[in-house]
Amino acid sequence: MVSAASRPTVQPQGGQPYGMVYLVGAGPGDPGLFTLRGKGLLECADVVIHDALVSAPILAMINPQATVINAGKRRGRHSLGQEEINQLIIDQAKAHAVVVRLKGGDPFVFGRGGEEMAALVEAGIRVEVVPGITAGVAVPAYAGIPVTHRSQSSSVTFVTGHESAGKYRPRVNWRALAQGSETIVVYMGIHNLGTITAELLAADLSADTPVALIRWGTYPQQETLIGTLTTIVAQVAETGFEAPAIAVIGSVVNWHKVFSHCRPTGTLWP
Ligand SMILES: C[S@@+](CC[C@H](N)C(=O)[O-])C[C@H]1O[C@@H](n2cnc3c(N)ncnc32)[C@H](O)[C@@H]1O
Repeated sequence: MVSAASRPTVQPQGGQPYGMVYLVGAGPGDPGLFTLRGKGLLECADVVIHDALVSAPILAMINPQATVINAGKRRGRHSLGQEEINQLIIDQAKAHAVVVRLKGGDPFVFGRGGEEMAALVEAGIRVEVVPGITAGVAVPAYAGIPVTHRSQSSSVTFVTGHESAGKYRPRVNWRALAQGSETIVVYMGIHNLGTITAELLAADLSADTPVALIRWGTYPQQETLIGTLTTIVAQVAETGFEAPAIAVIGSVVNWHKVFSHCRPTGTLWP
């Protein structure tokens, strides 16, 4: 825990005291996976700005005196734009000693933590990152799927299935991934699953390549849909399976049948 006495304040410009911002990863849902460092910071925060994928038991750890701001963004329903969020964090850091920016999973894995950190550094505000467990590892694990396996998969790629427009390069090279990575873990991939599976099939991945979709991973209500590159899109349509979810593509998915009975149950859930 960070005590009130040791709360950091810095004076980067003109003697004006600015607070400290912590970019904290909340992990993928199960409160038992949240770091001790993150918990200590929530307990002494003056302000917490959180996103949509932070679970209720973790929000319940926030100092009751703190101001809590939901900057949650979900596909097509952005409550605040990224520029607005950056400005909000800067404004809060100019007014408060300890500001926690709480993000799902890990802040630097498809979390725009790098963009927020850059905006804070540019504004002369001190910032520190507190990593969290990323969904791409923990969510498959809670479905009984190891993302690597010594005799099956020596490589894993974490990739976004939802690329924003105007990026530094046109698009993910799915065909190269099909050739170069034995396990592919796709974040935000449900809406583009048709395109992704078609690209991987066109790159000669076997039609029988197993695919797992996992929603509410690490939550008690976890939903898992298992299929293959050729069946999974129809299965999504039939079952009404919804985002947000992680997709795992590769033979390691077959371990789901063997390990799902001994998957973690999230014993620290209330
Ligand atoms: C904007 S990305 C944020 C990723 C996050 N920074 C991380 O490291 O896990 C959001 C995506 O992460 C995945 N995700 C995050 N939490 C999840 C969960 N509990 N179950 C399944 N997928 C999850 C989904 O693919 C979702 O669309």
